[in-house]
This record gives sequence, C-alpha cells and structure tokens, in this order.
Amino acid sequence: MTAELMLASLEAADRASILHPFTPLRAFAAGEMGPPRIIAGGSGIRIRDKRGVELIDAFSGLYCVNVGYGRTEIADAIHAQATELAYYHSYAGHSSEPAILLAQKMLQWAPPGMAKVFFGLSGSDANETQVKIVWYYNNVLGRPEKKKIISRLRGYHGATIVSGSLTGLPFYHTAFDLPVGGILHTTAPHHYWNAEPGIDEAAFSRRCAQDLEDLIQREGADTIAAFIAEPVLGTGGLIPPPHGYWEAIQPVLRKHDILLIADEVVCGFGRTGANFGSTLYGIEPDLITVAKGLTSAYAPLSAAIVHDKIWRVLEAGSDQFGPFSHGYTYSGHPLCAAAGLANLQILEDEKLVDHARDTGAYFQQRLRQCFAQMPHVGEVRGVGMLGAIEFVADVEAKTRFAPERKVGAQLAAACLEQGVISRAMPHGDILGFAPPLVATRADIDEIVDRVATAIRPIVNSMGSEAA
Ligand SMILES: Cc1ncc(COP(=O)(O)O)c(C=O)c1O
Repeated sequence: MTAELMLASLEAADRASILHPFTPLRAFAAGEMGPPRIIAGGSGIRIRDKRGVELIDAFSGLYCVNVGYGRTEIADAIHAQATELAYYHSYAGHSSEPAILLAQKMLQWAPPGMAKVFFGLSGSDANETQVKIVWYYNNVLGRPEKKKIISRLRGYHGATIVSGSLTGLPFYHTAFDLPVGGILHTTAPHHYWNAEPGIDEAAFSRRCAQDLEDLIQREGADTIAAFIAEPVLGTGGLIPPPHGYWEAIQPVLRKHDILLIADEVVCGFGRTGANFGSTLYGIEPDLITVAKGLTSAYAPLSAAIVHDKIWRVLEAGSDQFGPFSHGYTYSGHPLCAAAGLANLQILEDEKLVDHARDTGAYFQQRLRQCFAQMPHVGEVRGVGMLGAIEFVADVEAKTRFAPERKVGAQLAAACLEQGVISRAMPHGDILGFAPPLVATRADIDEIVDRVATAIRPIVNSMGSEAA
C-alpha cells in the first residue's frame, strides 16, 4: 500500500471507529468536515500531522502542553518508572515514591495553608471530588442542608455530570439533562458585555459581588456550601477578572461561611505568569483544582488540593464515618506522578513561570498593538500566556455577529491556513491563544504576525453591516 493509501485508510478507520468529543457527530462521520487531522509528532511549540503539515500550536493542545512538545526528560521519567513499577493503587494507605514526592512538591508550589493532595485523572473528576469533599465536610459539621454550589455563567469546570453542571455554558447542557439540582450560577465577570454603560471595572466588580450576595440571600446562606470559579475565566472566553473583583467577592463568601474552590486547571503552574492564578489575584481558596499544567499533559493527572482547615474536618469525619470512601483505581498513578515530577522539575530548572510572566507581558503588548484598532475587534484581553481577541459586528453599537455566520470559526480556519493553531472559543466570536510557556519573543512575533496576515483581509472585507 502506498503511504497515501495507508493514510486514507487510517482516516477512514478514525471516522468509522472513534466517537469524538466536542465534534458534530454525523457530519464528521459522514466526511462532510474533511478528514481528521492525525497528529504525528511535535517539538517545542510546533506539531506536525501525518500529511507532513507543520503548525505552530498557539493553544498548547487544550492549554495544557505548557513545557512544549517532545520533552524527552518527561518521556524518560515515565519510561524509568514503568520499568521499575508501572502501577500500584493508593487505597488503604498504599503509595508509590513518585506520588509522594509529587504531592510534597505541589504543596510547596501551592498558596499558603494547603495541607493535602487528592489525585485524580482529569479536571472534571477533580471537580467532582471537590464537590464530594465539600458535601462530606458539611455532613461532618452537622450541616446537612448546606450543600448547594454556586458557579458562574461562562465558567467551565468540566463535562461529567456534576462538573458539567457547574459549567455555566448552556450548550454543554443541551440534551444531556444538565444541570443537575443544587447547582446555581451567578454573573459572569465580563465588563465588556455585562457592565452597564459608563460604569467602571471596580463598580462592576461590586455589582458582581452584590449579585452573588442577592443570590445567597434568595437561596439562604445555610443551603450554600461552596463557590467555584476559575481565577481567569477560560473556555468561557479567556477573561481576566475586572479590577477589584476578587477583593469584592471573597468577603461575601467569608460572611456566609461559603467555601471557595479555585479551579486552577488552566491557570495553575505558570500559565498567568504566576505559580497560580490565586497567587496573582490575592485569592485565598479553601480548595484548589489542578490538572493540565501539572504534567503538561504528558500523562493524565489532576488533583484536588485541600486547605488545612478542610483537612482537619475530613480527618475528624473519618473517625465518625469510617474510611474516606472516595477514589479511583488510578488515583496517584505512578507513571502520571513521574510525569508530573519531571514536568515541575523542568518548570523550576528553566524558570518557566518567570519566563511566562516576561514573555506573557510582551505577548499582551503585541496583541493589543496589532489587533485593538482592527475593524470588528471589540476587545483584546488576556494575562500572561493567555490571550483573546473578541470580534463584533459593530464596535460602536457593541453588537454580536449572528451565530450562524460562525465568524470565530472562520477566523480560526484562516489562522490555520497561515500555520497557526488558535481556538475559536465556543461562546461568541473569540480567537483564543495560550502558547506553550517555552515560547520565546520571536515565537510570539511569528504567531502575532501570522494571525494578523490571516485575519486582516477578512475583517477589512466585512463592512459595517456585517451582522
Ligand atoms: C478550568 C477548567 N476546569 C476543568 C476542566 C476539565 O478538565 P478535563 O477536560 O481534564 O476534564 C477544564 C478543561 O478545559 C478547565 O478548563
């Protein structure tokens, strides 16, 4: 068989056998969307597909390959661990050396006061764990009514039953019977769309806090257990918090004895140019969810990091309820933990958090210089190595394009033509960027220049009646 025929048969086998996540099922399986792009390899910020096309991955996979592709240090660590001990579980006090060393290191990285690490496999399962911990906590404290969780509109917390319910984007719920009961959503802190005209960011933040207070009052504080939020809204549009947001939100939570879960799945381990988004924004979480950047996605690993205040209650609870009956076969998997250790070692040795702060500042500056004045650009925003350009039909009137025009997807396709992977974020017409933390200023220049070449002719030709 020729190479071309082999590839065609692999592509056909993909369509015939894989039920792809987040994919229009019928159209894809029928071949209407073209062949799958089969990724074959990668190095640094670049990947190449089976057809030999090389692309700059300006979204780090799903904002997770933070140390870049092809890091043999991590591959070697996984190999060495697989040779020594590929698997043992962590139930009933069993453990493995890499899991112990990684938990210890994570607590050194984490904001102050964190006491314990519970390992999972994905961001979604770690958020499920957080909810179970919070429920357990209130049962131990004899507050069985205090169970509801408040999330935010446009928040993304995963796709399982509870984490998918926490997610505040309605299309993740459609036809899945979500959200389940006991999950509430409050205002998305996006000043551009949600602030009343003329109101500044600090005043808008106070309004968000008031909306939260009102929701708590309506429901009754004694029914609400926790508030979960990403330090920077991610999948909902890559939206840094408006000025004063966390300063306004946290006192409301403290006043009503509501726990704060910081979902750091995207922000954790350097993405914003700080160890955690919590560090950057002065957030004092009770629980922290991490995944993606923990291993740079070289192996699936997540964690719920638990504050000492919560740990003490769980500890007391197990004398009352017996063993903590939650966990997974693969909790603390030695291969994933070895990948995590090697990954954090790279972040430390190469000072990638500092690098991300510096290169991130340059990235933000270049994005604004290049795109803020382009036609149809409503907002350019971001922090560290997270950036977004939001496109609107009419900048003055602040009106969106009709969704069926799929402007975001069209622009992302044009970037791809120029060899750059961005992400058309699922809510609105937003191009998202999250380059690997190893990207240099020259890489940033290349990304920004190629994206500008891709989108300039499109936005110039749209006219003001584009809606
Ligand atoms: C903030 C946040 N939380 C949770 C998740 C879910 O993680 P996973 O896809 O690993 O289940 C994601 C995934 O993008 C995320 O961005």
